[in-house]
Amino acid sequence: MKWTEQNIPDQTGRIVIVTGANTGIGFETARALAEKQAMVILACRNETKGQQAIDRIQQKYPQAVVQLMKLDLSRQQAVREFARQFQQRYDRLDLLINNAGVMVPPYTKTEDGFELQFGTNHLGHFALTGLLLDRLLQTAGSRVVTVSSMAHKTGNINFNDLHWEKRPYNAWQAYSDSKIANLYFTYELQRKLHQHGAPTIATAAHPGWTATDLQRHSGVFHFLNGFFAQTPPQGALPTLRAAVDDTAIGGEYYGPSGFMEIKGYPKQVSSNTRSQNKEIAARLWAISEELTGVHYEPIQ
Ligand SMILES: NC(=O)c1ccc[n+]([C@@H]2O[C@H](COP(=O)([O-])OP(=O)(O)OC[C@H]3O[C@@H](n4cnc5c(N)ncnc54)[C@H](OP(=O)(O)O)[C@@H]3O)[C@@H](O)[C@H]2O)c1
Repeated sequence: MKWTEQNIPDQTGRIVIVTGANTGIGFETARALAEKQAMVILACRNETKGQQAIDRIQQKYPQAVVQLMKLDLSRQQAVREFARQFQQRYDRLDLLINNAGVMVPPYTKTEDGFELQFGTNHLGHFALTGLLLDRLLQTAGSRVVTVSSMAHKTGNINFNDLHWEKRPYNAWQAYSDSKIANLYFTYELQRKLHQHGAPTIATAAHPGWTATDLQRHSGVFHFLNGFFAQTPPQGALPTLRAAVDDTAIGGEYYGPSGFMEIKGYPKQVSSNTRSQNKEIAARLWAISEELTGVHYEPIQ
């Protein structure tokens, strides 16, 4: 069966947050859910780009209910401010889509002292989810979807040097590490939610190879996009399926069904053995709590 946007059920009454929704896969995810009547919050770091995305969605679907909220995941203080404002405005959260990501930038430390990719892709979303947990737990049928990558297969987190202070920086390794962290996070979160009988599940997805701005720091991949990559609407389908497919269960991972999961319609896929290691996941969770100061108290 080919799972397409037509399989997305009506989302009326549901509140959705999509991080990094101004472009690429996040934009298409937000657009598709807004078309199905969800109230979609586009959580973006750049307000101009975010507003342009809102305008594009509203031009296409004048009935869409979309809202821009500023969120810079590389700054823990900004994540806290976003969560505070969301909690003031809304008493439920149906879908949290942890999509935003940065890939192979030059070595950068965030203001919190984190390597940028680990700090944004993993720690930013770890803190965001924890700070919104009470709203998720208040909402029947809620889900947390985190976008990983095929790059998780080369991920191998070095707990002795999480921020690349002792080794020469390898931007690709740091990206892969952040993407396997997205899976450790999803699986550990799902275990905790399940143990506590929570109404929320955690799933993950990857978009295969999709032509987006992500390749901005990689000339080769940017060039090859035109030959191999799928389009952003296609790349958003695994995320959308992980978010709304009624048959999905917690801990599942969705990706394209084609050759080597590079492109194609979404299906349930498997992540590698290392990503399923429970000891590493628990260790990463504890360190992430320590680094962000965000504790998932209701499901400890
Ligand atoms: N494209 C692929 O082939 C591919 C493959 C595997 C996995 N993925 C994953 O898919 C997800 C979406 O990527 P994409 O391909 O759609 O890339 P993209 O077009 O570059 O979009 C990434 C989004 O994340 C946002 N972002 C980056 N840093 C942020 C921060 N500090 N705070 C808030 N937002 C931030 C970007 O904002 P700006 O526009 O302001 O930079 C942008 O909206 C990522 O998690 C990526 O790792 C993509």
